[in-house]
Parts: sequence; structure tokens; C-alpha cells
Amino acid sequence: MTQSPAPVTRALMRVLTGGSLPLPLSLDHELDELLAAPVDPRDRALALLLTYDLLSGPLQPASRLARHPAVARVQWQLESAWLDELDAIGMPADMPIQQDLGAPVSPDRVVAALRSLAARDRLPGVYRWVARQASHDELVAFLALEGGPDAGFDDLVAACQVGLTGRPKLELAQNYWDEMGGGDPAAVHTVLHDRLAAALTMPRVPREEQPVEGLERVALGGLLAANHWLQPEMLGALGLIELQAGPRCRLVLQGFERVGAPRDAYPFYEVHAEVDPVHGRDWVDNAVVPVLAEHPEWAPRIVRGAWWRSLLNARFFAVADTQLRRAAAGDSLAA
Ligand SMILES: [Fe+2]
Ligand SMILES: [Fe+2]
Repeated sequence: MTQSPAPVTRALMRVLTGGSLPLPLSLDHELDELLAAPVDPRDRALALLLTYDLLSGPLQPASRLARHPAVARVQWQLESAWLDELDAIGMPADMPIQQDLGAPVSPDRVVAALRSLAARDRLPGVYRWVARQASHDELVAFLALEGGPDAGFDDLVAACQVGLTGRPKLELAQNYWDEMGGGDPAAVHTVLHDRLAAALTMPRVPREEQPVEGLERVALGGLLAANHWLQPEMLGALGLIELQAGPRCRLVLQGFERVGAPRDAYPFYEVHAEVDPVHGRDWVDNAVVPVLAEHPEWAPRIVRGAWWRSLLNARFFAVADTQLRRAAAGDSLAA
């Protein structure tokens, strides 16, 4: 079922389609009122994704308005509320590091914390279901929501490396080059994903029909890329993606074998199953550890970013699992 656009998202769309400065007074007042009250998480995620489209999506006439004061205000308020919420959720008690952003932490403990987060929920139930039970159509429905283990990773890595130097910069460059298929146009990861989508006639699920947990999982990348000050958190979040992708991709490949997926569906998940364990190790050894030598104060923040990703992943996988099984019984995918 398509849900009607949420009020902040709808007001923001009117700002973007208006395209002029200054804002009509009525719209300014409407935004005042909307932002004075807590914004529903679905509305917040949809609105933030719109603002991230302006900053890093394909160019559109509204891209010029990315720094419009009204857009910046919406983004600032929604992001601030979201960050407060994320920070209010403490890390698991058994983590080797806690969220005390002021405390000095050794690089070894950061590495241990990242590996501990990666091991936690490394194989969510929904991936095991994809491997062992899901029908062809259910598997495709999940992949359409999942978007791959590292959707948009090339641009995220490119954003993450801005301002880094030395080994961390080189590691992110190597990772980016792998995303680019090592220079082979046919092996670029987004091209492989397009091939997979065509082979499976995978539907493109409009944002309005995606569960809020899926929207927030994608929006986290936008939040980190749009806020240079969150570079330590972004290093942690992207590192976690690499550390967890390999085994999940292997389960998707098992699902492909079981349902008899076409050959063109395989390369995208094959390449990630093979290369992401290496990417994960190298990200930790060549990006995180050396960056900590230069910025020891980033230690808790790198773990914090990985924790955010872990948290939003877990919420998304739980909902995808429940809703896809419900969808099999004839209900909607949307929350
Ligand atoms: Fe990739
Ligand atoms: Fe990777």
C-alpha cells in the first residue's frame, strides 16, 4: 500500500518545486509549526533522503537548493533529533568499548569492538531464510529492499576519504577502485547490480512503500556523507558493512542455487562474497588503525558509527523478515 507523503516531506517538496528565494511566508510558517513538534520517523527519513538527493544524487533542477536556508533548517533539525535518538541507545553491555566519547581508548580495543559488532548478528535470520526457504519471488522481494550489501558504497567511500591522508586515503582509494571493477566498465559494482536486477526482473520499490527501517538504513549513509564532522562515525559504519557482507552474500548465492536464479544474477553477490572479507580486514588494518595513530580521540566515535549501522541493520532485517513472510500470505510490504 502506498502511504501518503508525510507533512514535513510534503512541505519540503513544495520548497523544492517552488525553486525561488525567498520562501512564501505561508510555507515558512508551515515549516515552523511542523518542526516545532516531534517529527514522525517515516516522515523524517523521507525528508532527509530528499535533502541527501540534492547533495549527492543525480543532478536535478532542485539541486541548486541544497543550501537553501529552508532546506538546511529542515535537515539540521531532523538530523539533530535523529542523532539524539541514536545516542540515547547505549551500546550492548558486553562491548569492549562504551560510548563515553571523552575517554581515551587504545586502537586494539577499537579493533576488538568492531570485530565484536561484526560477529554479532553476522547472519541475520532473514538471510538464512533466503538461503534455505524463500521462494524465487520472496528472494527477489528481499533483494529489492536490501539493495545489495553495500548500496551506493562507491559514492560513500568517495565522500569518506575527503580530508584523509596517508594509508587511510590509499586504502579507501583501493576500495573505491574495487567498486569500479578495477577499471573494467563491465565489472563496476553498480553495473553488476543492474545486471542482477535485469536478470531477476527485480522491481524498484518506491521509498513511500519501503518500511521506515529500510529508509533509515539508507539514510544513515546520507547522514554520514552530508556531515563531514561525522567522518569518524562514517569510517566505523562503512568498515562494519565490509566486515559483515561476505557471509551474507554467500547465503544469497545459496538461495540463487536453490531457486535456479539466472546466471547473470550471480556476479554481483559472488564478487562481494569473495572480496568483502578482504575489504573488511584491510579497512580495519589500513584505514582505522593508522587513522587512530593520528587521531586517537576518534576511537569511540569510530565504534559509535559502526554501532549505528549495526542497530539500523538489525531493525531492518527483523522487519524485512517479518513483513516478507506476511507478504507471502498476501499482505503489504510497507510498514
Ligand atoms: Fe561493492
Ligand atoms: Fe567491499
